[in-house]
Amino acid sequence: MIFSISGLGKTYKRGEMVFSAAENISFMVDRQDFVCITGESGSGKSTLLNMLTGLLQPDEGFVRFEGRNIAELSDDERARLRNSRIGCIPQGYSLLNNFTVLDNVCLPCCLYNAGRSAYKDAAKKARLILRRMGISHLAAEHPRNLSGGEQRRVAIARGMATDPVLLVADEPTGDLDPKTAAAILGVFGEIHRNGTAIIMVTHEKDHIPFANRHFVMERGQLQEIFPDGTRSSAAPAAEHACISDSFK
Ligand SMILES: Nc1ncnc2c1ncn2[C@@H]1O[C@H](COP(=O)(O)OP(=O)(O)O)[C@@H](O)[C@H]1O
Ligand SMILES: [Mg+2]
Repeated sequence: MIFSISGLGKTYKRGEMVFSAAENISFMVDRQDFVCITGESGSGKSTLLNMLTGLLQPDEGFVRFEGRNIAELSDDERARLRNSRIGCIPQGYSLLNNFTVLDNVCLPCCLYNAGRSAYKDAAKKARLILRRMGISHLAAEHPRNLSGGEQRRVAIARGMATDPVLLVADEPTGDLDPKTAAAILGVFGEIHRNGTAIIMVTHEKDHIPFANRHFVMERGQLQEIFPDGTRSSAAPAAEHACISDSFK
């Protein structure tokens, strides 16, 4: 087992309204898992992923990664985890504009391995991954000169650069055309077969068969959908109002 998530909850306050973005979420992820999470926009998927990678502190519950409670690590230790054992592909724009595409992809490998030879090794590997992503010709460019889809592929390449044991991807193919998205999903399938666990949020129903487990997020509650169509039991009813209630 790589991840153990227990009773995870996050409450946000907006104006006078308090609402649960994630509530009483518990599940485990094995090294062999490719987990796909779907759900409507605003249902709490990114909130959940950010708690899993230690970017966001939960209000309740805990996340254990390889046996260690992420909340008990220092900021430095959490950052080191995200730049080594866990590959993160966040939602939205996350590239550094002052760095070239190649250096953006190299960065996680060089943060804790300074020196000329570490950079050379990282650059060699980064070029291979960029080729796999179909964007090796953009290595010397700066991210601002790239299309949204090309930037997305750079972020995916960066997430894969450290050969993480777990890849956490938040709508990784959101800006991509269907053909490129299918190619990226093929790469995910390949790295999963080579031993990397994956947790991926997606809006595309076509992507679900690539995974071996499917979860749905609904108003902050996560349920697993089993192959026979049954669902894991729901968490207890929410005590807080949910933001989407205000649209009903
Ligand atoms: N920092 C924040 N403060 C207040 N509300 C937030 C914050 N971040 C997210 N939310 C709200 O929490 C809900 C869940 O957001 P999010 O996790 O981004 O959903 P998803 O990724 O499923 O679209 C949304 O209603 C969003 O507006
Ligand atoms: Mg999101």
